[in-house]
Amino acid sequence: MDIGKLIEMALAVRQNAYVPYSGFRVGAALLTGKGKVYTGCNVENASYGATCCAERTAVFKAVSEGEVEFKAIAVASDSEELTFPCGICRQVLAEFKIPRIIAANKRGEYREFDLKELLPYAFAKDALSSKKFE
Ligand code: THU
Repeated sequence: MDIGKLIEMALAVRQNAYVPYSGFRVGAALLTGKGKVYTGCNVENASYGATCCAERTAVFKAVSEGEVEFKAIAVASDSEELTFPCGICRQVLAEFKIPRIIAANKRGEYREFDLKELLPYAFAKDALSSKKFE
């Protein structure tokens, strides 16, 4: 799957964003290890904290279908600027070790990052192993 196609899918799914509060439409497209793509948009809520970002929508859709291995995720919005995953989404991307994170703008221009760049010193499952508390 080519990166341009993944960005195209992220841009397309942003049209489904449910954003009555911010008006900021975001789309994400997540490529699995098997080559399947799960898309997601942001879904807002009158109780703002209940909002789910596009990236997490895509990841949770995929995981709920039994997918846990991923190659890349592309994120885009209506902005001329690149759209970056928020902090909570970075933590979720780190959980599943998504190796390539593609931040795109509305024209499909992009930069690619890895998790270490976006979330250095991430809190991860190894911190929870019992040995660490001895
Ligand atoms: N948003 C995302 O969907 N992904 C991000 O990584 C950044 C923020 C959404 C959440 C909310 O619906 C809107 O953008 C404004 O914060």
